[in-house]
Amino acid sequence: MAMSHLLVLVLALLSALALPSSAASGSTLTQSGALTGDQTLASPGDTFRLGLFPACNRSRWFLGIWFTVSPDTVVWVANRDRPLTSPSGVVEVSGGGALVLRGGASNNDTVWSSSNSSAAAVVVAGAVAELRDTGNLVLTDAAGAVLWQSFEHPTNTFLPEMRVGRSLRTAAEWSLSSWRDADDPSPGDFRYVMDARGAPELHVWSRGRKTYRTGPWNGVRFSGIPEMTTFEDMFEFRFTATADEVSYMFRNRDSSPMSRVLLNESGVMQRMVWDRASGSWSNFWSGPRDQCDSYGRCGAFGVCNVVGAVVCGCIAGFAPRLAAEWYMRNTSSGCARRTPLQCGGGDGFYALRGVKLPDTHSSAVDAGATLQECARRCLADCSCTAYSAADIRGGGSGCIQWFGDLVDTRFVDGGQDLYVRLAKSELDAPKNTRKFAAVIALVIAGFLLLLLSLAFLMWRKARRSKKVSTMLDEAAELMSGECPTYPLGTIRTATNGFCKENIIGRGGFGVVYKGQLPDGQQVAVKKLSAESTAAQGLNNEFLNEVVLIAKLQHRNLVRLLGCCVHCSERMLVYEYMSNKSLDAFIFDERRRASLGWKTRLGIILGVARGVLYLHRDSRLNIIHRDLKAANVLLDADMVAKISDFGIARLFSSSADRQETITRTIIGTYGYMAPEYAMDGTVSFMQDVYSFGVLLLEIVSGLKNQRSFNLIAHAWELWEGGRSHDLVDPAIRGGCTAGELGQAVTCVQVALLCVQECPGQRPPMADVIPMLLQQKAPARPQRPVVCTPTRSHPAAAAAAALAAQAEITGGNELTITSHEGR
Ligand SMILES: *[C@@H]1O[C@H](CO)[C@@H](O)[C@H](O)[C@H]1NC(C)=O
Ligand SMILES: *[C@@H]1O[C@H](CO)[C@@H](O)[C@H](O)[C@H]1NC(C)=O
Ligand SMILES: *[C@@H]1O[C@H](CO)[C@@H](O)[C@H](O)[C@H]1NC(C)=O
Ligand SMILES: *[C@@H]1O[C@H](CO)[C@@H](O)[C@H](O)[C@H]1NC(C)=O
Ligand SMILES: *[C@@H]1O[C@H](CO)[C@@H](O)[C@H](O)[C@H]1NC(C)=O
Repeated sequence: MAMSHLLVLVLALLSALALPSSAASGSTLTQSGALTGDQTLASPGDTFRLGLFPACNRSRWFLGIWFTVSPDTVVWVANRDRPLTSPSGVVEVSGGGALVLRGGASNNDTVWSSSNSSAAAVVVAGAVAELRDTGNLVLTDAAGAVLWQSFEHPTNTFLPEMRVGRSLRTAAEWSLSSWRDADDPSPGDFRYVMDARGAPELHVWSRGRKTYRTGPWNGVRFSGIPEMTTFEDMFEFRFTATADEVSYMFRNRDSSPMSRVLLNESGVMQRMVWDRASGSWSNFWSGPRDQCDSYGRCGAFGVCNVVGAVVCGCIAGFAPRLAAEWYMRNTSSGCARRTPLQCGGGDGFYALRGVKLPDTHSSAVDAGATLQECARRCLADCSCTAYSAADIRGGGSGCIQWFGDLVDTRFVDGGQDLYVRLAKSELDAPKNTRKFAAVIALVIAGFLLLLLSLAFLMWRKARRSKKVSTMLDEAAELMSGECPTYPLGTIRTATNGFCKENIIGRGGFGVVYKGQLPDGQQVAVKKLSAESTAAQGLNNEFLNEVVLIAKLQHRNLVRLLGCCVHCSERMLVYEYMSNKSLDAFIFDERRRASLGWKTRLGIILGVARGVLYLHRDSRLNIIHRDLKAANVLLDADMVAKISDFGIARLFSSSADRQETITRTIIGTYGYMAPEYAMDGTVSFMQDVYSFGVLLLEIVSGLKNQRSFNLIAHAWELWEGGRSHDLVDPAIRGGCTAGELGQAVTCVQVALLCVQECPGQRPPMADVIPMLLQQKAPARPQRPVVCTPTRSHPAAAAAAALAAQAEITGGNELTITSHEGR
């Protein structure tokens, strides 16, 4: 394999040296030829290559076009939705004159075709596909007529000479759509499209919502991108608006470096320029640039100003529609007219200078009119709310009229003038400035008062019931409904590219990274280990499970915020716990003393409540199966939060869940109930056993392990009436007699929980009252581990597991082993 790669490399090098212009398989593909495996088509000047490229760690293959100097920069993809699973595809020009990619399961499926007409179509002889130096893949017939071209089917990249827009004659649309992920070319959430209605402009859309607009073309540039003027020495921009077509394209000027415009996975348009010196792409410009570019940031009749102390304002003559919300910085409701329009002769215009023109979707354009004519027309039409020049050249000409709300207006350097219609009385404002100022001062004072009283009310409410923040959290949760899936890019950025420095934990289920989401929230990202995730197609089931588990909410469970599924990788995103895990306290010489008895009892009760919720009160009746000190996290207030719950469900298929005997051994040595270690019997009692061990560990600060049998030790002390000797020496001195009594009860409850026979152990629902009322009703049976004999099956199983743990490098590790099916 390596040898053949080397050979290909050497051959490629040789051919590149010998015949620089006619690379690998030339630039054309005829009906008699085919492109297979790692063969590529090179454009005549070898600027672009066409061939199969891998994604997702070489598990998926796509037919695409990329820059020869930068093979990772794919500019077009054919089979975005139907990847091949190996590079064994064949590209050919069919008898019907279509470019097709064959491969897939039967190795001869048509995975992608440039034409979706049925196979029984006409025969087209002499069709040829050619990759041109512009990056356009063009399919022509024998007469040279274009049958199909990739430039008319863009993916996420806008290249020089390509058009974005639409044909008004054929209704064809040339738009971009983002990749789903940096590693997944399937269409993502964002689209870059031309809105040809009103004054045409380009929009970015995400799931049916407009997120960004360039503003209309003003004869020189887009109204919202004044910087374009400064690019003119490098690019030539061309905007076409005819009866046939509305489109936009750009060209590189001679000697300017290669460039491309990318709609990236976060919905940002990035203009990239190739830097020959460093051999990399540099980001030349990107949009949206700031929060004022975010569509409709300040609502109707609002105007956005990034350099102001307050981002949103109202256009002169308008005031916030919902004042209380506006002053709380919720500006989505926008502004309303202070004085109604008089229509007739009672109105005039206010010149709002230096703006990106508002959304032109429902505007009317007349390129022939003068600006004076435009003003006259707007006054004559009672529904007209504003006008502006359509072309800024030569002092401004042409006419755009707006009729409804003015949405998405912002100040920009080099912006245009927008003439907003107001009642004459508003325009005479200077006379009333003093009165105005007084009114404004009064209004502001009023709102301050309102705010203060609101804050007071909230504070009182917070004191009475829950914290306001939790109430808001819950509201947000209810609104969002399902658990979110995060794009891999977000997670990667959050964890600094999964860098080693961010690792905060490891276990059999995977590695845990600390991360920070773009909104500043700290999270813990658990990257699940590969063993259960190999199977494809289980993604939906996985996601369903995550949604179910994410809906579980309890004070003593770590919140699951969402997940991320990418190829075979699965990640869970949890809230981050600043105090890490319980084992970092109780087993640490220096920190154990900081965990006094009251805190420990609080943690014990918290864990018990969390487990009870999982067992009984949650809709899912989850058995945790890996309860241990490392899986109990502590928040800033030392409240215990159980983590990793439900992971067992994610790992096992639904069929497994119905059985009481599982084929998947999940657990940690020292916490595993004997019946489970022996034959894999799963029941709620397995968690009760682990809880018992954990309880002893929290009381004593000692760890149950092969070299030290904590259960036997506790039994010995309890039987001898010296349970209080088990209490962690680091805190024993500071305990009152009452507290020592509580500890003694805890030891007795723990010994009840670790009894050999599952039926003898108390259910979690009984454990909590025992702890709260400090009354353990029964005398525990001698635990089985006290009589270790090699012949005892449980001990033998435990010994086997111990051996396994030794191999995997320590008994702290979660053991996850799948037995053969
Ligand atoms: C890619 O595959 C290799 C070999 O199968 C594996 O070692 C590596 O961890 C994988 N990388 C990722 C990111 O999945
Ligand atoms: C593959 O499919 C094409 C069209 O369906 C057919 O012409 C060709 O013979 C098939 N090749 C093989 C090897 O089955
Ligand atoms: C190809 O598919 C598209 C989208 O499904 C459809 O609109 C179009 O009519 C189809 N064209 C042909 C030639 O079948
Ligand atoms: C998209 O472009 C913006 C601006 O250059 C950048 O900050 C962001 O990280 C990019 N997103 C992705 C997914 O690359
Ligand atoms: C902002 O105000 C709108 C309109 O009243 C309301 O529907 C929305 O819920 C508010 N948003 C927030 C985050 O409070």
